[in-house]
Amino acid sequence: MANKRRIVVTSGPTREFIDPIRFISNPSTGKMGYHIAKAAVARGYEVVYIVGPGDPQYCDVVGAKTKRVISTEDMLKEVLRSLKKQAILIMAAAPADYRPEKRSPVKLKKTESPELKLIPNPDILKTINEKGLKDKLGLFLVGFAAETHNGENYALKKLEEKNLDIIFLNDLSRKDSGFAVETNQLTLFTREGRKEKWKTDSKEKLGEKIISTLESYFFR
Ligand code: CTP
Repeated sequence: MANKRRIVVTSGPTREFIDPIRFISNPSTGKMGYHIAKAAVARGYEVVYIVGPGDPQYCDVVGAKTKRVISTEDMLKEVLRSLKKQAILIMAAAPADYRPEKRSPVKLKKTESPELKLIPNPDILKTINEKGLKDKLGLFLVGFAAETHNGENYALKKLEEKNLDIIFLNDLSRKDSGFAVETNQLTLFTREGRKEKWKTDSKEKLGEKIISTLESYFFR
């Protein structure tokens, strides 16, 4: 029998274009989000997969409703459209935090030596909270914190500031964890103060573990 809760998973990087052929982005491939969404489909959830331009092999999840986006603002719009009562939002994406103030409609020539002024992008999780959607819809919010240093402190700060139920710390200082590697080492923190350091594992296994953990600990 299908589980009734909708799971919205964001995945991959976003791109912020400077001109038609150049952009600011990051090395996220979308692999972690892909495996979370795949595991959620396998467990019978209704899944919306909102994915930025990462590795093409992670751009579609069979059985999920897939929405492809380019920029962080696009991702925010699709997330807001996809939320409904009791939805679980898993923000595995690495949205670009800044975008160029101006986007040239034509290719810039190198002789123009452009000076880039960057302006902040909206924070998707904070926007959801500012709109009061967490309480209004009874959302369950899951975030990731990708950190190179002071990981636990930053993860706990994000848990609080983004009003999350759970955050997964992804330790970028390790070779076996982070962007564009096969495995991740995750530590789970909950708003009730639970901390669990998980062993390094493939992103596929971790996707399954994330969904089964959400089920067994939080939705009994
Ligand atoms: N996130 C978001 N909107 C953004 C950027 C990030 O909702 N514009 C989400 C990510 O998907 C992740 C969480 O917020 O679940 C933390 O993202 P991270 O990049 O680690 O942190 P930032 O809030 O961007 O802060 P900083 O870059 O300063 O570490």
